[in-house]
Amino acid sequence: MTETLAIHGGPKTKETPFGTGKRFGVEEVKELVEALEQNTLFYHFGNKVKTFLQNFNELYGVKYSVAASSGTAAIHVALGAAGVTVGDEVITSPITDQGTLIGILYQNAIPVFADLDPHTYNLDPASVEARITERTKAIVAVHLAGNPCDMDAIMEIARRHNLKVIEDCAQSYMTRYKGRLVGTIGDYGCFSTNDFKHISTGDGGMVTVNSGKEEDFYRVHAFADKNFRRFGQDVMKDVHTLAPNYRMTELQGAVGIAQLKKLPWICERRTELGHKITAGLQSIPGIYPHQVNDGDTCTYWFYMMRLNEDELGCTRREFSEALAAEGIPNMQGYIPQVVYMQPMFQQRSAYLNSEFPFSLTDMKYEQGYCPNAELILQTALRLSVNEFFTDQDAEDMVTAIRKVAKYYWSKR
Ligand SMILES: Cc1ncc(COP(=O)(O)O)c(C=O)c1O
Repeated sequence: MTETLAIHGGPKTKETPFGTGKRFGVEEVKELVEALEQNTLFYHFGNKVKTFLQNFNELYGVKYSVAASSGTAAIHVALGAAGVTVGDEVITSPITDQGTLIGILYQNAIPVFADLDPHTYNLDPASVEARITERTKAIVAVHLAGNPCDMDAIMEIARRHNLKVIEDCAQSYMTRYKGRLVGTIGDYGCFSTNDFKHISTGDGGMVTVNSGKEEDFYRVHAFADKNFRRFGQDVMKDVHTLAPNYRMTELQGAVGIAQLKKLPWICERRTELGHKITAGLQSIPGIYPHQVNDGDTCTYWFYMMRLNEDELGCTRREFSEALAAEGIPNMQGYIPQVVYMQPMFQQRSAYLNSEFPFSLTDMKYEQGYCPNAELILQTALRLSVNEFFTDQDAEDMVTAIRKVAKYYWSKR
């Protein structure tokens, strides 16, 4: 027997509010007070950013990382330090935040988009390889929503073609690819601590320098600080090439120290909740759960499933509205469309009144360029995952999805 949907006047599945909690507490306050008492908020004179990075390095098992003012800045720093420059091509994902692309364009390099795996929503290595030209300099591998890219394949391609690999881990803290933390596998790993991420410092970012070489660390460090080289007692301000000021302040570093202590449980809890949802969504015709490959760990920045309207017997909009009426908030898709369909790419206008750097290429950013990515956005349904959600919350999500799906097949 099918139950009456809440949208048709039946009982609502979710009867209790979703779990919530406070992200910041006395731990952050203590660190902030200490930061202010240092009488400087400059990273080079204080100890908070330094301690934050030391703790981050220990957690990630890396020798070097550099702080930045945002995730966008972190990616720009990695690109700049990797030597990506005017007219170079950088291959990346068409489903991502603008922050992945900003640094590429500020280096006057050309973003090139590879298609995605239809169910992990991450780069398809075969498509990456097919997009390589003699101008390709780097790959920015976006680990979307806490789920790792196929890094063995990406690294193998990169090494064969002599490309740098920058991992965009803004949405993927403590995410593991075959047991290895993402952000430690490519040449550089970039993280964001904006307010929407697993941990927040308001804004901020980090770049890991995975060669472990001091000279690489110095180059990355300098690129986040106007190419001034502030190492130990020495400060060298003779600037040879251009670099922005993307410094993190001691206030962000202080909050970061406290937030980092919470990161493991935040990620573990999100992984558990994501597993529960996936387990509950098995064998529902027309519903394709968020795929995580065997041996990988996803830390679910969000949960995104795909719908097949024909198999379900309803449109995505109908499904989404019925699910919302059951008390399960959800979003249709993620970003409105693949990033290359944005006006900036369509009109080839990164800078006002200029076609540069697009004028350096005849690259066409057209509908159909990455068909899997386009279809993902047309058919996906996104659910929030939050470390404060209860097991009941995850069960209610599953129950509501099953109820709505069952209703629509019964009407086919
Ligand atoms: C995948 C991805 N890359 C980069 C960024 C940019 O990070 P930020 O907002 O800290 O600049 C974000 C942030 O939303 C992101 O989700």
